[in-house]
Amino acid sequence: LIRAQAPSSVHVLLDRNAAEVVSRQLEYSLQAVNLPFDVQAWTPSEAKKSLAQAEKVAGRMLRKGADRSSLVLGVGGGITTDLAGFVAANLMRGCAWGAIPTTLLGMADAAIGGKTAVNLAEGKNLFGAFHQPSLVLADVSTLRSLAPRDWSCGLGEIVKAGMICKPALLKHLENCPKASLRRAGDDMLKAVRMSMRMKLGIVSADPREGGERKLLNLGHTFGHALETLAGPRKLAHGEAVALGILCALYAAVELDLASPDYARRIEKLLTRCGLPTRFPGKLPSVAMLAKQIARDKKKAGSQIDWIVPIRAGKCRIVPGTEAKALATWAHARLSAH
Ligand SMILES: NC(=O)c1ccc[n+]([C@@H]2O[C@H](COP(=O)([O-])OP(=O)(O)OC[C@H]3O[C@@H](n4cnc5c(N)ncnc54)[C@H](O)[C@@H]3O)[C@@H](O)[C@H]2O)c1
Ligand SMILES: [Zn+2]
Repeated sequence: LIRAQAPSSVHVLLDRNAAEVVSRQLEYSLQAVNLPFDVQAWTPSEAKKSLAQAEKVAGRMLRKGADRSSLVLGVGGGITTDLAGFVAANLMRGCAWGAIPTTLLGMADAAIGGKTAVNLAEGKNLFGAFHQPSLVLADVSTLRSLAPRDWSCGLGEIVKAGMICKPALLKHLENCPKASLRRAGDDMLKAVRMSMRMKLGIVSADPREGGERKLLNLGHTFGHALETLAGPRKLAHGEAVALGILCALYAAVELDLASPDYARRIEKLLTRCGLPTRFPGKLPSVAMLAKQIARDKKKAGSQIDWIVPIRAGKCRIVPGTEAKALATWAHARLSAH
């Protein structure tokens, strides 16, 4: 795959926490393609997904001979592939890049679609560019060292994928042995393959999120707000998305757009995936939730476009709902359980 790109050199940004499971294969493959290459390892964190870090990473790539025809490879979790993609989007005004995701969330979501970004003090992912990777390589066996919470977070996004357009994916997660949901085996390979296909299908039809790509935000309007209010230690992204999905389901049932049975089914599945169904700690007030939801970067004025789950494999974009209404539903759902 790397050889097919015919790059002048290869510059790898490697997630240190994935090094144990990928290093040997990576070095072997890089040596086999017989091109100049450099591997820089780093320890990712949201704080270091920054412009300062991008500058460091790019600086080293240039010192190691990167030019316009070089290939940048991001190997690791979503933080690493987002940063590598961002560097590639800007290095020499843009060079080719590839993603080798090693977390479940990275495989199912972050590595696909060409959204690259770093964080600013003002918020997450606010500085970036669309820059499609020319290769994405996911090897499920690299998940074997993943922490339990990272398994769950990835599963949250996979459930989301099933709810958007893959009913068979929901069935697969419900029917496979529970242990498979924490194992780098064939069941996970099937789940990853289905979610990658669903995301690829949506982003290739709408690469710049003009319409249908918005469906991928299912659970995220509520989820982002809950994530910020709880703090990342209490609620990781995929966990917040799971709660967001439950809030969206509650609202959909209230609006008579989804059945209570469907809401119960998804709640059961999220629990099976090890995801929370309650807010950790004290639930913020409706006013606090509304304020946070209104900060959503996908908003137009105070009206918010959000995604309503209808039935397995079917969601709808509903434009222009007031943040207050969304907050009221979220509050009702999270205080009722
Ligand atoms: N670009 C997009 O479309 C998109 C979509 C979703 C999320 N994201 C971004 O992705 C990031 C979250 O991704 P994530 O959940 O992968 O987080 P992450 O990159 O922080 O990875 C989670 C943890 O797992 C470690 N890790 C990586 N591979 C491992 C392995 N094989 N074994 C053990 N540990 C391993 C990482 O070092 C990290 O500590 C966020 O910054 C988010 O904004 C981007
Ligand atoms: Zn997400």
